[in-house]
Amino acid sequence: MARKEDILISSNGIVIEINHLKKYFNGLRVLEDVSLVLKKSENIVVLGKSGIGKSVLIKCIVGLIQPDSGSLKVFGKEVTEMKPKELNELRTKVGFIFQGNALYDSMTVRENLEFPLRRNKALKNSHEIEGLIVEALENVDLLDTINKMPDELSGGMKKRIGLARTLILKPEIILYDEPTTGLDPLTSKEISKLILEVQTKYKASSIIITHDLNSAKITSNRMLILNEGVIKARGTFEELKNSEDKWVQSYLKIE
Ligand SMILES: Nc1ncnc2c1ncn2[C@@H]1O[C@H](COP(=O)(O)OP(=O)(O)O)[C@@H](O)[C@H]1O
Ligand SMILES: [Mg+2]
Repeated sequence: MARKEDILISSNGIVIEINHLKKYFNGLRVLEDVSLVLKKSENIVVLGKSGIGKSVLIKCIVGLIQPDSGSLKVFGKEVTEMKPKELNELRTKVGFIFQGNALYDSMTVRENLEFPLRRNKALKNSHEIEGLIVEALENVDLLDTINKMPDELSGGMKKRIGLARTLILKPEIILYDEPTTGLDPLTSKEISKLILEVQTKYKASSIIITHDLNSAKITSNRMLILNEGVIKARGTFEELKNSEDKWVQSYLKIE
């Protein structure tokens, strides 16, 4: 069944449109003038030094931080003008994978996955809930951990459970905040491939914040580099890698 949002999406293929976004904290410039567009089924990677405003940018998208000025539309609707009820609705469609994995340590994997369902969806019967949990765990290849506690899992497994917990609500947009930070290279690669699978399988559109150039290469359709409050460079991984611009060159080397 076509939903209102789908009709909006199909009219221009854009799911997020940000124009001239500005955010200062007590005089500290974080975002000066940021504009970007995320298209349906596209993965954008945002690179940028630590503390430059990457998390602030994606928190603005789900209304966790109110920008000072600029326009921020998700599915064609201005987020800064949304009422609490609309914001809640928005957050069921826009999954947010926070930095760190933020699983509840005192809950089993099953309970961790059940939590967003009980909070965000009209309460389903337990059979339906179990079905969704199993499906989400199968998607990240971790069904056998269903009764485990987070402490029993490796860092990479926790990240995958975190992703499963977001996927269980079948979001149309996923915002990943440093999904591979703190993982060894092999596990990072697994997570990056999983992000790519999610894009294909769910036709999800994503913004992925990362420091990990290997992950950026695997997951991105386009990349943006945020610096000094603006998007300093844009392009595909290959375009940026082959850029003549000295700053971009040095940036990609340092990263
Ligand atoms: N809620 C907040 N209140 C005040 N300052 C904040 C807040 N959130 C972030 N900042 C500041 O904004 C800057 C950018 O932070 P952040 O977006 O988290 O950086 P990063 O690019 O590493 O994700 C930092 O200087 C940080 O201290
Ligand atoms: Mg951050």
